[in-house]
Amino acid sequence: MKIVLTRRLPAAVGAKLRSAGDVVAPSESEFRAGELAAHLTDADALVTMLTDPIRAAAIDAAPRLKIIANVAVGFDNIDVSYARSKNIVVTNTPDVLTDAVAELTWALILAVARRVVEGDRTVRARAWNGWAFDYMLGAGLAGKQLGIVGGGRIGRAVAARAGAFGMRVAMARTAQSLDQLLNTSDVVSLHVPLTPETRHLIDRTALARMKRSAYLINTSRGPVVDEEALAWALAERLIAGAALDVYEQEPRVTADLLRLDNVVLTPHLGSATTETRTAMADLAADNVVAVLGGRPPLTPVP
Ligand code: GLV
Ligand code: GLV
Repeated sequence: MKIVLTRRLPAAVGAKLRSAGDVVAPSESEFRAGELAAHLTDADALVTMLTDPIRAAAIDAAPRLKIIANVAVGFDNIDVSYARSKNIVVTNTPDVLTDAVAELTWALILAVARRVVEGDRTVRARAWNGWAFDYMLGAGLAGKQLGIVGGGRIGRAVAARAGAFGMRVAMARTAQSLDQLLNTSDVVSLHVPLTPETRHLIDRTALARMKRSAYLINTSRGPVVDEEALAWALAERLIAGAALDVYEQEPRVTADLLRLDNVVLTPHLGSATTETRTAMADLAADNVVAVLGGRPPLTPVP
C-alpha cells in the first residue's frame, strides 16, 4: 500500500502509518509542483491538510485511492460527494481539537473586548504615557450575552466556558433565530462549517443587525464572513470590534482590516497547540490504518 502525506507529520505518526504501507512525504515543507500529482497515480491513501484543495481532477488522478484523511475538522477543501462517487472514504479529525478551538475563541473574545493587542502595540511603540482613569477602556463581559452561531461540538464547548465569565448564552439554529441573536448579543461567535448555505452568512445585512457595542468573533472558516462588509461595518462603527482567526483568501487579509485598531487578527491558530496537532495527526493515521486494513474508518465525515 502507498500512503501519501501532503506535509511532514510527527515521527510517531509516520511510524504508525508505516505499519500499513510505504509512506511518501515531501522532503521540504511541501511537494513541488507536479510532485503530488505524480504520487497520486498509485496512492492508496492520502493524508491532507485544510490548505490542500482536493477536487475532482486530483481524485481522478488517483484511481487506486481508498481514503482521504483530512487533518482538520473542516473538510470544505475536499469534494466529498465526488470522492464518495468513487468509493473513497473521507475522514476528518473531530473532537480532538474542540477544546483548543474553544480556548482560542475565548482568547479572542477577551483580547478584543479588553484591547489586549492594541495595548501591547502601544506599549511596544513606547507610546504609553502611564495609567489614566479613562485610558483605553474596553467592555466588560459579565452579565452580557454571548451569541453562538452553530450548535456543534465547538460551539457547545465555547458556550460551556461562558459561565466562567458570567455571560449568558444564546444559540442560533434557524435563520429566524440568527436574526434575533444578532440583534441581542454583545458578542457573536461563529462555529458553523463552510457550506453553500453558510458562505457570507455574515454580510452587510447581518452586520447591520448587530448592536453597535457588539463584537464579532470568527474561528470557523473565513468565507462565512464577507470580509469587505466587515471592514465597512467596523469603519462605520456599526459594531464595536471583531476578532478573526480565519480569512476568505488565506493568507491574504482584506487591506482595510489591517488599518483598523478595533480588530484582532490571528493566523488560523484554532487547533494550533502541540497536544492537539499531535492528536489530529494521530487520528488521521488511525483512520488510514483502519481503512487500508479493511476496517471501517473511525471518524468518517458526516
Ligand atoms: C481547522 O481549521 C480545522 O478545520 O481543523
Ligand atoms: C488598578 O490597578 C487598581 O488598583 O484599581
